[in-house]
Amino acid sequence: AKKAVLGPLVGAVDQGTSSTRFLVFNSKTAELLDHHQVEVNQELPREGWVEEDPMEILQSVYHCIEKTCEKLGQKSIEISNIKAIGVTNQRETTIVWDKITGEPLYNALVWLDLRTQSTVETLNKSISEGNNFIKTKTGLPISTYFSAVKLCWLIDNVRKVKKAIEDGRALFGTVDTWLIWNMTGGINGGVHCTDVSNASRTMLFNIHSLQWDKELCDFFKIPMSILPRIRSSSEIYGLMKIGPLGGVPISGCLGDQSAALVGQLCLQDGQAKNTYGTGCFLLCNTGQKCVASEHGLLTTVAYKLGREEPVYYALEGSIGIAGAVVSWLKNNIEIIKASREIENLAGEVGTSYGCYFVPAFSGLYAPYWDPSARGIICGLTQFTNKCHIAFAALEAVCFQTKEILEAMNTDCGTPMKHLQVDGGMTENKILMQLQADILCIPVMRPFMPETTALGAAMAAGAAEGVSVWSLDPKDLSVVQMQKYEPKINLEESEVRYATWKKAVMKSMGWVL
Ligand code: G3P
Repeated sequence: AKKAVLGPLVGAVDQGTSSTRFLVFNSKTAELLDHHQVEVNQELPREGWVEEDPMEILQSVYHCIEKTCEKLGQKSIEISNIKAIGVTNQRETTIVWDKITGEPLYNALVWLDLRTQSTVETLNKSISEGNNFIKTKTGLPISTYFSAVKLCWLIDNVRKVKKAIEDGRALFGTVDTWLIWNMTGGINGGVHCTDVSNASRTMLFNIHSLQWDKELCDFFKIPMSILPRIRSSSEIYGLMKIGPLGGVPISGCLGDQSAALVGQLCLQDGQAKNTYGTGCFLLCNTGQKCVASEHGLLTTVAYKLGREEPVYYALEGSIGIAGAVVSWLKNNIEIIKASREIENLAGEVGTSYGCYFVPAFSGLYAPYWDPSARGIICGLTQFTNKCHIAFAALEAVCFQTKEILEAMNTDCGTPMKHLQVDGGMTENKILMQLQADILCIPVMRPFMPETTALGAAMAAGAAEGVSVWSLDPKDLSVVQMQKYEPKINLEESEVRYATWKKAVMKSMGWVL
């Protein structure tokens, strides 16, 4: 068949907590041409522990690239038009591997993992609130969420890790680093790097100097020799060495929440988006200013789109469990067989009838930062059935978003007039309507929901030496929005929210 003629294309690897995707966009129109997705297994060896196999993660990326290229071929789209590849990833998840053999020295410790809870509690007691140099330097509260404590655990508990460090063979990386090192050749000259957005989630990175911080590394006893080189989010890191896209530059790297911010074109001070994935993350671009939160939000690096470009910061409200509560209802409680069934189940009743579900499976993140919280379902009566519980699970995602939105409004001083959303869960219309009702502001959802991958593709396509994508928002017509208007009144919304707050209080201090 005659091959279709298209402009330059850009690919994006989107390696999330629950799945891996490879997507290909037309850089002139931002149209998604094709993609492939596979699930990634989570291993739960003990209560509170969450691991993934780094090799499975890597193979899932190669598999998705191959399958997408096959699909493009079937549509007669020439894959030689793919001019760049961007990488976006679940953040904080920690991997250590041997640079001589290429083998991971332990499973990846996933961001949700709670095994470092006691370390975190000890650290929190030892550092005074008024003089928290970690918070000042990193923008982060001490929490099980970030990489530093996970890396400490690996060094202290896995003999192979300690030995490889002593022998000068160990490399550390978040998922972006692991993937790029492998994709650029691995043991045969792979590039060991990360970008500023991913680095800002490790708790070892100084968000003001944009460098690894010696004082932090000494504090956590992490040898700086195992850390990757810091790069911008948009530059050529190296060439792909494997598979059908061999020779294509890898030129974009962004943590997934930063990528969604870019993909939603929130490139100016005050613009915000909320992404509903495994967790849920509200990021507000604060421009070139590093704004410290007074209300439990994180200060994080949003992106630096080029070596000579300025760094942009964001305030972030992080929720540990969003889509993961639906997976839990499916896998653990088995009230649904497929995630999308939750919409019908909740829709059958349209109310939780006083049932509240706080899915604090990995403690509570923003704005509470309480690792000792655990999930609760309360307000049950003999009348309560699985439909009410399904509805309460969706409502929980919306209430948690309201909590971080309120914190954001107070920190920023200007209340948000609408909420821009994306991510897998936003396909759920009941969830979207509930979100608008609970927030009492319109919720706006792009028709093209793959904004995380789009952001990574934009960063890759705009890199110096690639330059097939313009980052000027006026050249981009990608963000066509669908709007959900609130349908209940403020009073009703506030009564429900007040009860939710009571339920949250009950979930806290559960495991001491
Ligand atoms: O910080 C964790 C976050 O990056 C995970 O994103 O999309 O897998 O929930 P997601």
